[in-house]
Amino acid sequence: MPSEKTIYLPNSNLFKNAYINTFEQYKELHKHSIDNPEEFWGEIAKQFYWETPIDIDKFCTYNFDFRKGPIFTKWFDGATTNISYNLLDRNVRNGHGDKIAYYWEGNHPDDYSRLTYKKLLEQVCKFANVLKSKGIKKGDRVAVYMPMILESIVTLLACARIGAIHSLVFAGFSADSFAERIMDCNARVLITADGVWRGEKHLALKSICDQAMEKCAKSGHNVEHCIVVSHLGRVTSPAGVQLNQSNKTPMRHGRDEWWQDLIETASSLCYPEWLQAEDPLFMLYTSGSTGKPKGVIHTTGGYMVYAATTFKYVFDYKPNEVYWCTADIGWITGHTYVVYGPLANAATSVLFEGTPFYPDNDRFWRVVEKYKVNQFYTAPTAIRALMKFDNELVQRHNLSSLRVLGSVGEPINPEAWMWYYKYVGNEKCSIVDTFWQTETGGHVITPLPGATPMKPGSASFPFFGVQVVLLDECGKEIEGEGEGYLVFNRPWPGLMRTLYNNHDRYENTYFNKFPGYYCTGDGARRDANGYLWVTGRVDDMLNVSGHLMSTAEVESVLTEHRGISEAAVVAKPHPVKGECLYCFVTTNDHTKFDDKLLNELKKLVRERIGPFAQPDVIQNAPQLPKTRSGKIMRRILRKVAINNRNIGDPSKSFTNEMSVITLQFGQCGN
Ligand code: PRX
Repeated sequence: MPSEKTIYLPNSNLFKNAYINTFEQYKELHKHSIDNPEEFWGEIAKQFYWETPIDIDKFCTYNFDFRKGPIFTKWFDGATTNISYNLLDRNVRNGHGDKIAYYWEGNHPDDYSRLTYKKLLEQVCKFANVLKSKGIKKGDRVAVYMPMILESIVTLLACARIGAIHSLVFAGFSADSFAERIMDCNARVLITADGVWRGEKHLALKSICDQAMEKCAKSGHNVEHCIVVSHLGRVTSPAGVQLNQSNKTPMRHGRDEWWQDLIETASSLCYPEWLQAEDPLFMLYTSGSTGKPKGVIHTTGGYMVYAATTFKYVFDYKPNEVYWCTADIGWITGHTYVVYGPLANAATSVLFEGTPFYPDNDRFWRVVEKYKVNQFYTAPTAIRALMKFDNELVQRHNLSSLRVLGSVGEPINPEAWMWYYKYVGNEKCSIVDTFWQTETGGHVITPLPGATPMKPGSASFPFFGVQVVLLDECGKEIEGEGEGYLVFNRPWPGLMRTLYNNHDRYENTYFNKFPGYYCTGDGARRDANGYLWVTGRVDDMLNVSGHLMSTAEVESVLTEHRGISEAAVVAKPHPVKGECLYCFVTTNDHTKFDDKLLNELKKLVRERIGPFAQPDVIQNAPQLPKTRSGKIMRRILRKVAINNRNIGDPSKSFTNEMSVITLQFGQCGN
């Protein structure tokens, strides 16, 4: 295994023509972006169309210090634009109309299609008109619960075209979680599909939406329109699997309508709504350490410029290349690097509906070979699952088109890094270990593939415009080598602006601990060469297969069970998932801790949150260790979790892992 000192240089042949091809060039440009953001970002912003131009006096204003007043960040304030115009109309005008925007690869290898920029624009205009006909206008929220199909991309861009705020919820969340999010953002329109195949598993998306809408109605919130893509009928079912009649999609008269019926008669002309650069583009929920999910708000102008710039430089994307990000659009990775970043660069992407394990465990490599993918972006958990199989599954495919291999969602351990480098990248590709968050909008710490000498396991250096600071417990900046809280002292264009309807929580969560800094909630170490190593969360958050969740959120579900009086959840390291959930529960006097209770608790977590949150271990704890003030001592529980050897039947555990990864990365998520 490589040590911290081992360095891999970018392959000079592959990166001769890289946008940034020396480390010196990166350093110079980074310095320029910090010293003169107006010039650096201004030059980039010129490539986009602004209906009202950027005013240099209002280029970027912010306050990160609550002692000086409310926290805010604004970029290009007063300028107006439309992101769907810039991603579609502008590209069509620049001669990319017949270029393929997406190769769609279905769950079953027999299902595939493609969509050009011109056709995408037409579909987006049509659907934008459908949304308008349902009364949707600028600022309204649209709830989306969709699989990895082309209509999902169309939906997001149609919302953006008319200024509606899309709120996409990952289609692996339960009906309860979805209902909570629909109500929080007060969405009156919901877009979904009848269902989807994931490997050999059928997910009845519309019936999950029905349950969610029922829950909303019980709390007095009515979803007025539900638009459903008819998808199952046009795809191949996995061999031998037949859906029975009861799987037919029920449609409620007056509320539910088929996408295909609505789109047929819609006009393909839709003038874009010119939005303020600081108008919200979308919201996306992320877990909060106190339980209730937070609706992270990203705005139009800054997000557009940042998504475009990170995509271009971090993947070194060149015209005519084919790029593939396996993340589900339900996560920020899908938003920024399946939809907005690639389209802003007129890129050709693969949109993959399936899983890494169907029909065989070489599906990823088959798809890379089929489309001659140049940039491949996935998560460490998927890599760790795939490296368990025979390397021959990789080697039987021609992967010579690959240049850049990306990683996102959690720290990549050196073993997984080496396997990715050696077997997938054939020791010639650059690996970009991209550190970022739902809140950061795009990559903030990452190597650049033609420039940064790589250290396996290190996300390396900040992206342009980003200045990393490490703070000690007292809030003092750590210069040079050292470890501390990972914070930022200034905004870049893609940083979140607020939390939906809750600016106080935004200030408290991200800016309260250290006045003057945005706090990521992660720790990091800077080594002697200045490389940054993200060490993981410093708050009560867990990262299971790249999916962030709070201990509080799982604890509150466990204590909903009438047999449980108290619960504490900690993270336990896991060889594939990165971390898994280790739960301690105290039963009340009348409840026996037996298999029945265990199954009920697991089911409860699946129902309330989603399958990916299912605990790996639930341990009976007649008493939880507490401080004198009554706080649970998680430090002790974490030790117990690490020492516990009772992790159940490993074969079962692997099936479980695969379904979590399938859910999040296969179907295409983080
Ligand atoms: O803990 C960090 C981890 O994932 C968190 C962000 O999760 P989320 O908002 O769901 O967004 C994930 C996709 C961008 C971070 O606070 N994380 C993400 N990428 C890395 C990482 N930790 C280490 N290295 C990474 N490359």
